[in-house]
Amino acid sequence: MKKVLRIGLSLFAMTALWTSGAYCEGGPKPAEQPKAKTIKELADRYDSSSCTECHQEAHDQWANSLHSHSILGSPRTAPTIITAMEVGVKNFPYSGVKEDKDITVEHLKMCTKCHLPQLDEATDDVAREIIATIKGWQKAKKEEKDDEAAKLEATIASLNINCRVCHNKMAIIHKWADGYAQPDAVYGSKDGAHDDPKFPKMGKAPALGESIFCGQCHGQGPNFELAHPSQCATLYGSYLFAYVAEGGHESCQECHMKKSGLGHDMQSYNSEAMVKMAVDVEVDGRSLFWRKNSAEGVLPMGIINVEITNKAGHTIPDG
Ligand code: HEC
Ligand code: HEC
Ligand code: HEC
Ligand code: HEC
Ligand code: HEC
Repeated sequence: MKKVLRIGLSLFAMTALWTSGAYCEGGPKPAEQPKAKTIKELADRYDSSSCTECHQEAHDQWANSLHSHSILGSPRTAPTIITAMEVGVKNFPYSGVKEDKDITVEHLKMCTKCHLPQLDEATDDVAREIIATIKGWQKAKKEEKDDEAAKLEATIASLNINCRVCHNKMAIIHKWADGYAQPDAVYGSKDGAHDDPKFPKMGKAPALGESIFCGQCHGQGPNFELAHPSQCATLYGSYLFAYVAEGGHESCQECHMKKSGLGHDMQSYNSEAMVKMAVDVEVDGRSLFWRKNSAEGVLPMGIINVEITNKAGHTIPDG
């Protein structure tokens, strides 16, 4: 058994190397752009509104997903970022943060590494603007200033994981072998010309259809590469070590985008389609009578066996 497993693994490693070499979809590392100085500049840099015109369905599906408001969240994420700063970072003796004005991109990275990876292209002013905007939104909501709250909420939601984050920034994982994403291209399953005049090229992202692509953010656990590791979703670890290791072979994309029929509207328990795929429940019951004592007479008794099997590709719930 162990031997078979090892052969399987070495074949896998070879295929991975071979496929990496066979494609040539990215290119040289593009010159670094000047950092975005405001939320608006960062949102504009990743502006994906042109995509909607030709990929309406992908856009509508995506717009319903949490990826389309990954800093706002359900909206639980934005307030939790504030809690992490107030209760955590400001109280840590060596974080360098006592007040909001001390917060930098590096501090927010403990969340934005996954919730907003493009923040690494912004100045520390943007990190502080994000904190101020979330706090302003919380205050406006408390004071029932609905218009102001809605406006600030839209600003927070303008920072998200959109078409260009997945089909450009995060698309190519092994950049030394496959090249860096080029600024004028979108990355999918093939290369060639692309109809969008702003992105006239189409390139291949070898891992876009593989679970590892989602694993970049749906991580294995704490981020040990950061100065202060933080923990959020650990689901990719569970996928690898509890599902694939037990013989599971479907990818994240197969379950979440294809079998569910949801495409870019990647969902969980908020979607009936996903809940239907989540568990098998078998219930087996029988009744019998039990004479407890003569004063109370005969008491009915039921025995119910419930067997629940998790059919998701990982532990649930998560996050
Ligand atoms: C003017 C229309 C148009 C616009 C605008 C447009 N696309 Fe496309 N896109 C297409 C067409 C048509 C194809 C299919 C090309 C083919 O199959 O040869 C395509 C293909 C793609 C693919 C590859 C799909 C695959 O099968 O691998 C991706 C990814 C993609 N577009 C993303 C985007 C993103 C992101 C944007 C916005 C930045 C965008 N597109 C804007 C028309 C457009
Ligand atoms: C390793 C990547 C990663 C890091 C780091 C991370 N998150 Fe998350 N977080 C996720 C993913 C992926 C989900 C959703 C997936 C799930 O439910 O498993 C999520 C879900 C959440 C949710 C619940 C979603 C909602 O909308 O209600 C909250 C709240 C949240 N994160 C806040 C934070 C905060 C605050 C930080 C920083 C202190 C942080 N996360 C750091 C990846 C991460
Ligand atoms: C969270 C990451 C993510 C985001 C955000 C995202 N995509 Fe995709 N997209 C994917 C993945 C993964 C695939 C490939 C699915 C596969 O091959 O199994 C894909 C496939 C596609 C394709 C190929 C045809 C298809 O539908 O399978 C097009 C076109 C496309 N995306 C356009 C878009 C556009 C336009 C947006 C923004 C509205 C967008 N995507 C946002 C991850 C993303
Ligand atoms: C750039 C990082 C990133 C990538 C890539 C990414 N995700 Fe996510 N995803 C997140 C974050 C962050 C959240 C939670 C946002 C929030 O609510 O705050 C999330 C939320 C989700 C949710 C909703 C979870 C819930 O609790 O309802 C699902 C499902 C999901 N992602 C599946 C996928 C799949 C499948 C892929 C690959 C095709 C993928 N994601 C790629 C970062 C990412
Ligand atoms: C075999 C199918 C299958 C595979 C493979 C799969 N998922 Fe899921 N996933 C599901 C189902 C079904 C649910 C809904 C569970 C529920 O109802 O709570 C789910 C739920 C989730 C959630 C929300 C967890 C929660 O709190 O309930 C996230 C995030 C997610 N999946 C991401 C991923 C990512 C990322 C991958 C790949 C690493 C992946 N899934 C692989 C079927 C799958």
